[in-house]
Amino acid sequence: MLKITTHSLILGLLIVSWGAGAQTHQMNPLDLAVPIADEQAVAEGGEIFSEKCSACHGGRGVGTGRAPCVSCGKFMFRGNTNSEIYETIYSGTPRTGSRGGKMGAFSSMLDKSEIISLVTYLRATERARIASGEISDPYAENQDAMVFPD
Ligand code: HEC
Repeated sequence: MLKITTHSLILGLLIVSWGAGAQTHQMNPLDLAVPIADEQAVAEGGEIFSEKCSACHGGRGVGTGRAPCVSCGKFMFRGNTNSEIYETIYSGTPRTGSRGGKMGAFSSMLDKSEIISLVTYLRATERARIASGEISDPYAENQDAMVFPD
């Protein structure tokens, strides 16, 4: 019940920020705002992603059999805010219960602005994929699991 309420709240806030035609993406007013319209930041994030992340997560973060999609608008390991995605990249995926434990921390390899450009790249890619119809709108449905495409 709480989860549904949280999802509805997030969805509502998201519609507000999208409706404004924002140049930045954030999931709620307190979330880390990432500059998805800044082509340089997106390009920088894309380069780092190709170098350090795509071997597991696939090109453009579409996911592989061994690592979930990170451009599908569904980040369920910690949560779907930019701050939570930042934290996942910073500290990796410590094993909690039945999931996690397969991705190391990038805190010693990437500085703050590089991690922010990665989050920017993932959100810009996600928005482009939704806009082109490549993926169905992830915000229209509740999703309780990480996405591992076939
Ligand atoms: C060695 C393979 C590997 C590499 C390299 C890797 N990841 Fe991951 N990542 C995973 C796996 C596997 C998971 C799912 C959690 C788990 O099983 O540990 C994950 C989870 C995530 C999540 C959470 C997904 C969700 O649904 O909440 C994010 C965000 C993420 N990775 C981003 C990145 C970024 C950005 C990079 C590059 C800096 C990166 N990963 C590099 C394997 C990897």
